Amino acid sequence: MRLDIVTIFPEYFAPLDVSLLGKARRRGDVDMHVHDLRDWAHDRHRTVDDTPYGGGPGMVMKPEPWGEALDTVVPPPSRARLVVPTPSGRPFTQELATEYAAEPWLVFACGRYEGIDARVIEDARERMPVDEVSIGDYVLAGGEVAVLVIVEAVTRLLPGVLGNAESVSDDSFAPGRMEALLEGPVYTKPATWRGRDVPEVLMSGNHAAIARWRRDQALGRTAERRPELIARNRLDEADRRALTE
Ligand code: ADE
Repeated sequence: MRLDIVTIFPEYFAPLDVSLLGKARRRGDVDMHVHDLRDWAHDRHRTVDDTPYGGGPGMVMKPEPWGEALDTVVPPPSRARLVVPTPSGRPFTQELATEYAAEPWLVFACGRYEGIDARVIEDARERMPVDEVSIGDYVLAGGEVAVLVIVEAVTRLLPGVLGNAESVSDDSFAPGRMEALLEGPVYTKPATWRGRDVPEVLMSGNHAAIARWRRDQALGRTAERRPELIARNRLDEADRRALTE
């Protein structure tokens, strides 16, 4: 998979060299390039923003540097899937992460200030698919951190990046997984720590009982923290009992 990121803060992306993703990059499984938008700003101050038409607070990113940047990074007639993080985008979900993981080429355009001149997105849409996506109902100072989130969620789904296919299919929100339940608590050695014991059932060797216990934990946690997810699950008699106890 190829990933290109256009930003005025390339330093934000240093973490992409760390951990499993860093290894995948060094192996060549992920071909990632970070570009400084200011390379396409040609005035003495390398200006990328200006005041908004119609007035209002803040600044808007100018279209010309963005137009040139996208033409250079994705030279026509080639096409990538362009992802523009913005709090006014559609929600980024595990389902969208899975879709992105199947793409050969993703390009991310990081906006700052009050956003990018809307004509940049219209223009790009004439030659490639463009998604404006939000990572949650809060406002960040720019798209950079959102891109880090999206890149991590997508690349861990690539074959060989996580190194454990099972931990992906087991994710709370994995598409195709019938259930949408939060995962319950997990434990490792020692069996007693600071006077706290690991739940006995986990050491019983009784696989059916362990599965039941884990499901009950997941149901209880989901009901408490994300009650709106419960309806997305097919519940049997035992599940309902767990939820009413
Ligand atoms: N840029 C600023 N806030 C954002 C958010 N919540 N999601 C995606 N991009 C953003």
